[in-house]
Amino acid sequence: MKILNFGSMNIDNVYNVDHIIAPGETENSYSIAHHCGGKGLNQSIALAKAGAPVWHAGQIGEDGKALLDILTENGVHTDFIRKVDGHSGHTIIQVDKNGQNSIILFGGANRSITRDFVDDVLSHFEKGDVLLLQNEINELPYIIEKASEIGMRIFFNPSPYDNLISECDLSRVDMFFINEVEGYQITGKKEPDEILAELKNLYPNSSVLLTLGSEGSVCQTADETCRQNIYKVKPVDTTAAGDTYTGFFIASFLEGRSIKESMALASKASAISVTREGAGPSIPTRKEVEDSTITE
Ligand code: RIB
Repeated sequence: MKILNFGSMNIDNVYNVDHIIAPGETENSYSIAHHCGGKGLNQSIALAKAGAPVWHAGQIGEDGKALLDILTENGVHTDFIRKVDGHSGHTIIQVDKNGQNSIILFGGANRSITRDFVDDVLSHFEKGDVLLLQNEINELPYIIEKASEIGMRIFFNPSPYDNLISECDLSRVDMFFINEVEGYQITGKKEPDEILAELKNLYPNSSVLLTLGSEGSVCQTADETCRQNIYKVKPVDTTAAGDTYTGFFIASFLEGRSIKESMALASKASAISVTREGAGPSIPTRKEVEDSTITE
């Protein structure tokens, strides 16, 4: 069984600020840093660091060598990464003194994916392989349709949520990875239990992993509903916390560990990532997670 993550790769330009800037306001930043990120890249690195075999597919621009390098260095297979003309995806990220962030995203090379490229990538995968997607590349409806025809299992993190998601056939998704905001955007419901009930109603064959910030996370499958607390740490930068959770959960779950065990491992990995700056570089190794003594 192989894991294909067809996803974004971004250069994150990170500014540390006192507070997230308000409309009309100008504020000095304390520092600037450039990190490799993108929800796709972060989740591929998390999967690989957790020990899963992962192939990343996607596009970088002429300035994207560092994105390719960090994936390779972390053991991600990069055979399906194409270099195209123009800029890679990039972001402007403000991180405030409490570690909270605010992100402006420019899609760049992530958003010029062609159907021919999709067909070529998918021709290397088969029934039973896993496809992981986020919402930072174009052609998602086509990728979901074609992967589903092959018989791949589809894991979808519809983040950042926008109206294009409604063009995807979400009934083909095996497992959603969402937070409360995305849960509300998909279902129109605000309370976690209502979000889960409505998702079961809309997509009865799909499992859901719902993250709830400081309230932890809850996973709903056909057979069980499990809850997990957060691990307590002092946040430095929350960027990629959700991506770390997603990658570690999937790696553990596909190894055959239980939902509960996989949630605990993912929650711990995610907590460690928020104690470190940056996106991709903040993701811990499996050993660091398993050796860590942080508690719920
Ligand atoms: O989830 C965090 C990621 O979102 C950042 O790395 C940034 O690139 C944005 O895509």
